Amino acid sequence: MAHINDNYLKLQAGYLFPEIGRRVQQFAAANPDARLIRLGIGDVTRPLAPAVVEAFHAGIDDLARRESFHGYGPEHGYQWLSEVIIEKAYKPLGVELKAAEVFISDGSKCDTANILDIFALDNKIAICDPVYPVYIDTNVMIGRSGEADSRGYYEGITYLPMTAENNFTPALPVEKVDIIYLCYPNNPTGTVATREQLQVWVDYAVANESIILFDAAYEAFIRQPGIPHSIYEIPGAKNCAIEFRSFSKTAGFTGVRCGLTIVPEELGARTFGGEKIALNQLWNRRQGTKFNGVSYPVQKAAAAVYSDEGWTQITATIDYYLHNARLIREGLTAAGITCFGGENSPYIWLKTPEEMASWDFFDKLLSECHVVGTPGSGFGPSGEGYFRLSAFGDVEDVKEAVKRLRDRWGC
Ligand code: MLT
Repeated sequence: MAHINDNYLKLQAGYLFPEIGRRVQQFAAANPDARLIRLGIGDVTRPLAPAVVEAFHAGIDDLARRESFHGYGPEHGYQWLSEVIIEKAYKPLGVELKAAEVFISDGSKCDTANILDIFALDNKIAICDPVYPVYIDTNVMIGRSGEADSRGYYEGITYLPMTAENNFTPALPVEKVDIIYLCYPNNPTGTVATREQLQVWVDYAVANESIILFDAAYEAFIRQPGIPHSIYEIPGAKNCAIEFRSFSKTAGFTGVRCGLTIVPEELGARTFGGEKIALNQLWNRRQGTKFNGVSYPVQKAAAAVYSDEGWTQITATIDYYLHNARLIREGLTAAGITCFGGENSPYIWLKTPEEMASWDFFDKLLSECHVVGTPGSGFGPSGEGYFRLSAFGDVEDVKEAVKRLRDRWGC
């Protein structure tokens, strides 16, 4: 008889976003006349940039001709894409990388999950709370945790609370940890980390031979000068950090799928015998075996993001979303709702009115205002009493949603 991976049975609920989708669908079916405004999952709504579309088409045309046809590409991506990323996304930050350190993939969600393949199960993991649920769920799935307690904390995982009380700056863990997940600009709280704050983590990781898994999926939303876009802007980071980036939010690729992971050649971790092994070599091996690369037209489209035209166009789209974020933040703040984030990020993290529990507020907002958001507690126990709104919607929808919230809860 076949046996299941019973770690899956430890997972507390369905994955957050499908669960929200299910509740919304149920509501919509029962209330067909309600005009729903969806500010829940951080899914983009603006079309791809024209320069990206043109390159995408050209990539498909290449596949249509014998002389420019491409079959399997390199598992870690075409060198021309890695090189343009290094040149345009990292060099301006003062970060030097080699093409062999850049791994093109189908998105950072998959990579932040798959990276666990190259680490031993006995590593002690530290995770911010609240957090992007993929980090925690994937560790539970592979068996790195025990059961969850009544508050939702899994045994064996170190949680780093991130709340208004500590200004969304998680403190270093008390016990020694081996792998630390950091995400900045942060999902879900929309807050950012300064150079000094990141330096504290890098120093900790170097001193303890820990690895930082740094999710920079939202770096393109940083507008404030001086806020780091990459962990490698921090001295010492190449010796302790893997960085994940995504074209999803940067260039509207949530449905197209393309991301990248940087594994510096000098980054290593030890065997149980104490020998230091390059993680780049292991990740390369893992990808070569389990992944066949991103399609050629998608990589063509991704490279076009960095053309002068492409960059101008995607910057305008990000500005559009940041304008939405400002409308939400300012509109709700004026209504007496406490808001965080939304300045260098597409997410606004708010304190629920009347100290409602997150899911209660979700239900009220849905049933009374027909607005969909994401309950903070879905991101972890410390998210209880908070709520996330995404700025990825249409500007007129965003204005209408803010109006509905103000009419219902404004003081
Ligand atoms: C979110 O809403 O947190 C994101 O869209 C989820 C994701 O990027 O997978």
